[in-house]
Amino acid sequence: MADGLKLAFGPFGAPGPGVFIVFCDDKLKFGRATADALGSAIDLVRRAAKAEHFTGNSGSALELIVPAGLDVARLVVIGTGKAAPLAQKDRLKLGGVAMGKLPVKASEGTVFAELPGGAMSADEAADLVQGMRLRAYAFDRYKTRRKDDDKPPEKRSITIAVGDVAAARRAFVAREAVTGGVLLARDLVNEPANVLYPDEFARRTLALKKAGVAVEVLDVAAMKKLGMNALLGVGQGSAHESRVVVMRWNGGKKGEAPVAFIGKGVCFDTGGISIKPAAAMEDMKGDMGGAACVTGLMQALAARKAKVNAVGVIGLVENMPDGKAQRPGDIVTSMSGQTIEIINTDAEGRLVLADCLWYTAQRFKPKFMIDLATLTGAIIVALGQEYAGMFANDDELAERLDKAGAATGEKVWRMPLAPEYDKMIDSKFADMKNTGGSRWGGAITAAQFIKRFVDDKTPWAHLDVAGTAFDSRQTDINKSWGSGWGVRLLDRLVQDYYEG
Ligand code: BES
Ligand code: MN
Ligand code: ZN
Repeated sequence: MADGLKLAFGPFGAPGPGVFIVFCDDKLKFGRATADALGSAIDLVRRAAKAEHFTGNSGSALELIVPAGLDVARLVVIGTGKAAPLAQKDRLKLGGVAMGKLPVKASEGTVFAELPGGAMSADEAADLVQGMRLRAYAFDRYKTRRKDDDKPPEKRSITIAVGDVAAARRAFVAREAVTGGVLLARDLVNEPANVLYPDEFARRTLALKKAGVAVEVLDVAAMKKLGMNALLGVGQGSAHESRVVVMRWNGGKKGEAPVAFIGKGVCFDTGGISIKPAAAMEDMKGDMGGAACVTGLMQALAARKAKVNAVGVIGLVENMPDGKAQRPGDIVTSMSGQTIEIINTDAEGRLVLADCLWYTAQRFKPKFMIDLATLTGAIIVALGQEYAGMFANDDELAERLDKAGAATGEKVWRMPLAPEYDKMIDSKFADMKNTGGSRWGGAITAAQFIKRFVDDKTPWAHLDVAGTAFDSRQTDINKSWGSGWGVRLLDRLVQDYYEG
């Protein structure tokens, strides 16, 4: 990776001279290999723990500089909390904490993948390293004048000690694939809109071909032919042409219906003629977070050779005010044939999704459709940044998403759909209007709008990721503005329910 960070598995033994990271529980108990490596320094650790009131709580850390009796520059003891079995997300977190405790200047480190109860399995150690990788990500390609003090060494080499090196390496292949997908999504969200406009986004998806993904790019002429006027209307005020990208990974049985993921890819959302206020408008470079997640997911599935047929469809547009821009009051005919009166040009994401969902269902007859969109400010009001809003026409799909969310920590909260809300988007002049008229229930009326472009027989879930895709909650495994939220969630969903 570009950051010059090398993470490699190795056997337990004497740690290298750099930073040495070990784990203990809330009884300050260590695993056997760790205790052996610490030797007489264990006593020092106990004294330091007492002096620092370190009790081994989950995620807490105790640091000792040049500890006597150990040939290391720094010893970091990280607490795992109660000696209970850890979940995958706990191991990711421990990896994140460990990475965070490696000083920027450290060029060498050793992490013992051992818990008080014993060495981590290959899979568990791979989780730990995935957490480290996710934590280590930084988007700094536009920083040209960093102070020497902030500069990491050219090469950082961290060894993760495990019981079975070969098995850990094998287990890490799939984690690395998923991690790559998350980091790709973060990069896409973090890029500014003068760099990442629709055609450039489309170009970047072509890199997925290397992993075996078939990529098709629809240009404006192709979309016109298909009748995608709802999507095209959003992009018509921009100097950048709109694009739809179709990504296909066929790792499943030949001819089996695919699972489908659809992403809102508004590369910048000014609001259009219904222009947004200036405050925080720069955040709207992240309004393609749904499309970024779908792209990252497709790369992850292909890179780990998931046994599933999957399609990803992303609608890429820029929502700008201009002489050619769409106006409030305009009426467009969507690909489905349904007409839409534009009330507010800032409610553009649903217009993009309407055509993308319709297109996906017609062409692929998928097993299910899940769309992701930074769709409404209202979902942030409702749920904050902790949960994404989930709307679904199918209880089984909703339940599976809920479980995958609990397992990965990328949590979803189900919101209601109901005919009473649907009525709110009936229009005087057309089949529907693109906003509910009132701000109340804004995330729900948006979902009701999208629902009109999904037939009832296709299981469908809509994830409103406005609160989770960017400006995101800082966690032990994410210090990035663009979070890459949803890649791990959906990868997990596919892995647990739709492979093999
Ligand atoms: N992209 C925005 C939603 C958004 C806002 C995402 C803030 C993340 C942070 C979306 O296109 C939008 O403008 N929605 C409007 C809808 C309204 C005009 C009905 C909103 O939420 O205010
Ligand atoms: Mn908008
Ligand atoms: Zn938007």
